[in-house]
Amino acid sequence: MKPYAQLTPAERKEEYARLQTEFDAWKAKGLSLNMARGKPGKQQLDLVSDIFGLMQAPRDYVSDGIDVRNYGEMCGLPAARRLFADILGCKPEQVFVGGNSSLQLMYDTIAKAYTHGLLHSPRPWCKEETVKWLCPAPGYDRHFKVTETFGFQLVTIPMTDGGPDMDAVEEAVKDPAVKGIWCVPKYSNPEGAIYSQETIRRLAALTPAAPDFLIMWDNAYCVHEFEGDYVPFPDILSICAEAGHPDMVFEFASTSKITLPGAGVACFACSEANMAHMEKLLTPQVISFDKVNQQRHVLYLRDKAHTLELMRKHAAIMGPKFRGVVDTLDREIAPLGIASWRRPKGGYFVSFNAMPGTARRTLALCKEAGVTMTSAGATFPYGKDPQDSNIRIAPSLPPVEELEQAMTVFCVCVKLAALEKLGV
Ligand SMILES: Cc1ncc(COP(=O)(O)O)c(C=O)c1O
Repeated sequence: MKPYAQLTPAERKEEYARLQTEFDAWKAKGLSLNMARGKPGKQQLDLVSDIFGLMQAPRDYVSDGIDVRNYGEMCGLPAARRLFADILGCKPEQVFVGGNSSLQLMYDTIAKAYTHGLLHSPRPWCKEETVKWLCPAPGYDRHFKVTETFGFQLVTIPMTDGGPDMDAVEEAVKDPAVKGIWCVPKYSNPEGAIYSQETIRRLAALTPAAPDFLIMWDNAYCVHEFEGDYVPFPDILSICAEAGHPDMVFEFASTSKITLPGAGVACFACSEANMAHMEKLLTPQVISFDKVNQQRHVLYLRDKAHTLELMRKHAAIMGPKFRGVVDTLDREIAPLGIASWRRPKGGYFVSFNAMPGTARRTLALCKEAGVTMTSAGATFPYGKDPQDSNIRIAPSLPPVEELEQAMTVFCVCVKLAALEKLGV
């Protein structure tokens, strides 16, 4: 097939009619397939379910002399703090191990800035006339929603191959109303981009007008390669400290996609000064998080090296799914010149850029044929993609056979929407 732009009107009509027949045949099958959210598949959950068998012996109830079944250790079990410090490359004293969700810790950090203020806040953010927030996009919809619910003005920052467009960030932070930025530095959601050394250096070196500017460093996919070797990443806490801004960053991570989403363990890491401030604010809120689950994870994951071994087993399940998705796109869509995408090596998503003005139509067609995808626009602030182009594909949940069907349907819909846009 020639690129669609080179087809004559008659050829376009013919191709459209052929695809319409194919689409109707898929629709008649009454499919119910889901590529909407980045959830691990059943095989991955089964892989880690031996975690339930741990903590049988009474000796497992004690960690560093602490009875994990009781109150105490609000900042997390020392062994759990050491585990995350090993994974993230920072110091255990800089790690706070919480409950089952890093998103909750992120929300809570912003909430605390809003109600009480951060370490260097002249006043709580609720007392500010306007709070603006930088959102590299395409990005993670829930990040954008967190800052939207607090009434912040979301400022879109374009993403490049090496992370957020740093010229735009450096310009934006001259405004004292700009209080922070969302970052997913490794296998960003949904682009799968890894921030370049240069981007990281420039972020750490920012001199924002706001004294309490906050980098929300969500390292959700820090050990999540599904192709190739583990890619090391730098410790953002020490890089910010070396740049003279030790308190400008909070890092987040969790075991949601290492062990069990919703039943894993999450953490934040920050400077010791920030930790002292957060401890003060958290003390009235919680006596201690679930240390039993923390202990289970310490026993199960042990250390970074052992965690990386487990991640290679996840990769053996995830790799074929991602290769299937991208190979289908390469075969079905690439020759037509109507879309672009990346071939990520880790994370949970493939970011697909359809012909501008066709993402919503493509996804409406998918829905009609029984394939659910993340809604169009979700990867942009306020759910509005100005180009109506970006679509997030999440291949992890469906089994391979279902994924193949879902991708075939998706490609038919992408083509139909493009032909409609070109005129049929
Ligand atoms: C970038 C990013 N951060 C955080 C999360 C959620 O993490 P948790 O389960 O630790 O709340 C996700 C889930 O998809 C994500 O993609």
